[in-house]
Amino acid sequence: MLTPLHNLSLADYSTLRLGGPARYFLDVTSATQLAEAIEWARLNKLAWQVIGGGSNIVFADEGFDGLIIRNKIKGIEIKEQGSATLLQAGAGESWDGVVQLSCEKGLYGLAELSLIPGTVGATPVQNIGAYGREISETLSHVEAYDSHTKTWKTLTAAQCKFSYRTSIFNSTEKHRYAIASVTYKLSHEPREAPLYASLAQYLEKYNVTARDPFTIRSAVIAVRQIRLPDPTRLPNLGSFFKNPIVDTMTASRIAKKHPDMPKYPAAHGSIKLAAGWLIEKANLKGYAAHGLYTYKENALVIVNDTAQSARDLFAFRDEIIARVQQQFGITLTQEPEIVGKQKNAPKDPSS
Ligand code: EPU
Repeated sequence: MLTPLHNLSLADYSTLRLGGPARYFLDVTSATQLAEAIEWARLNKLAWQVIGGGSNIVFADEGFDGLIIRNKIKGIEIKEQGSATLLQAGAGESWDGVVQLSCEKGLYGLAELSLIPGTVGATPVQNIGAYGREISETLSHVEAYDSHTKTWKTLTAAQCKFSYRTSIFNSTEKHRYAIASVTYKLSHEPREAPLYASLAQYLEKYNVTARDPFTIRSAVIAVRQIRLPDPTRLPNLGSFFKNPIVDTMTASRIAKKHPDMPKYPAAHGSIKLAAGWLIEKANLKGYAAHGLYTYKENALVIVNDTAQSARDLFAFRDEIIARVQQQFGITLTQEPEIVGKQKNAPKDPSS
């Protein structure tokens, strides 16, 4: 028998610490419970939404008029398969715990993604990425409950249709699957690609020549701790905007005025710009309003200082979008997901 909690404040379940109540809230600790929770919501004609650590979610002030299911499915299994090592983890495992374990075992593939807050189940949803790595490169498959067919499915990386911060789980098939576990394909051999510039610079600065997973992890942690505030101390959701992908003409138009502009090649000949740089150049690094501010070490991060409502956050966000638009003619889009319906809110620019 499932006994969901009633009327629970969601602010405690987002690392931004904002948002209204959930009509119902339930922790699940097994795949069976996960499927049962979804069927319970269906039976009661309620919307449902699975959450992990809440480190990439903005809850609306009106809260969520349905069932919030917090995924706490645990368990890690490691097995060798030819020259590869498969690591399967329950969707409710701490992501960084899994990275740490893989590095302790000398496995390459996840070290660059160290210290990203949140759970394993969130890693395929938004195709997490950092320091030249994306989870799409190491993900083997996902076990998920298909609420359309009421069956369990194994989805391969190709079936997840990954691109920059996107998969079927947050786009075409949103609200369809609930993830129970994720399996990563790791290796005892280093990969060919060079280390991301800021990590290589950090290691050179300290004359560290080793490039084993644990060394890479330590460098990532050191670099991240300067640029990203700890959400348990300063409530935030990591990068608040996506890095915009533009055509070459737009990129050269800005680069003409700003030869120092960071830019990276992206898919189909387009160019990825750095949202943090654009915000900084719009003079908004450290900018404070509505009880929030952009982090002084990294303008891409919004910190909740004294804000009491998601409405304050949206007002702050829209000011940043307008100022960057005015200065560069580029419209930034929000990276974290909005859960729940905000009354009188403009359309979610991220969807
Ligand atoms: N930059 C500035 N000013 C700023 C911030 C950045 O000039 O205030 C410049 C940097 O100097 C650099 C460029 O912008 O030249 C890119 O910055 P960085 O390499 O630090 O990465 P990012 O684009 O800010 C992305 C991810 C992060 C990930 C880092 C490291 C997105 C939206 N963000 O940030 O992911 O940790 O790369 O690889 O893609 C997250 O998704 O929550 C997240 C933290």
